[in-house]
Amino acid sequence: MALVKWTDADLLGHEKIDGQHEALAMALNGLHELVLAGADAKRFDDALEELLGLLREHFETESELMVASNYPDIAVHLDEHTTYLARINDLRKVSAHAEASSIAETFFLLRDWFVAHTRKDDRAMASHLKAVG
Ligand SMILES: [Fe+2]
Ligand SMILES: [Fe+2]
Repeated sequence: MALVKWTDADLLGHEKIDGQHEALAMALNGLHELVLAGADAKRFDDALEELLGLLREHFETESELMVASNYPDIAVHLDEHTTYLARINDLRKVSAHAEASSIAETFFLLRDWFVAHTRKDDRAMASHLKAVG
């Protein structure tokens, strides 16, 4: 069962951002499979590391676009990204020792954040990018 349902309704109309979002949704779904399968801590950590790599690249892309277009809400948006990376790093620290249920719970929070952020904050940013074209 796919965890993040990624459909055309999630597209923001910016090719690079949309491609990165889709790759992130797939990486999150891959992590979910590992959670369901009760994968060992090493495999889970490797997958988190991979997700972090994709996220850093993606956040850098968004940051550059926001700076170049003088996006007025850049500070709040970048704070959101920083908080998300910190949460994933926290999950990495605890996942080697934590109960499977608490890993799953934290993971669902990460998923919810990703979906909410892309649908609201990234959509607002994409509208701005389109407007300043
Ligand atoms: Fe994004
Ligand atoms: Fe963002």
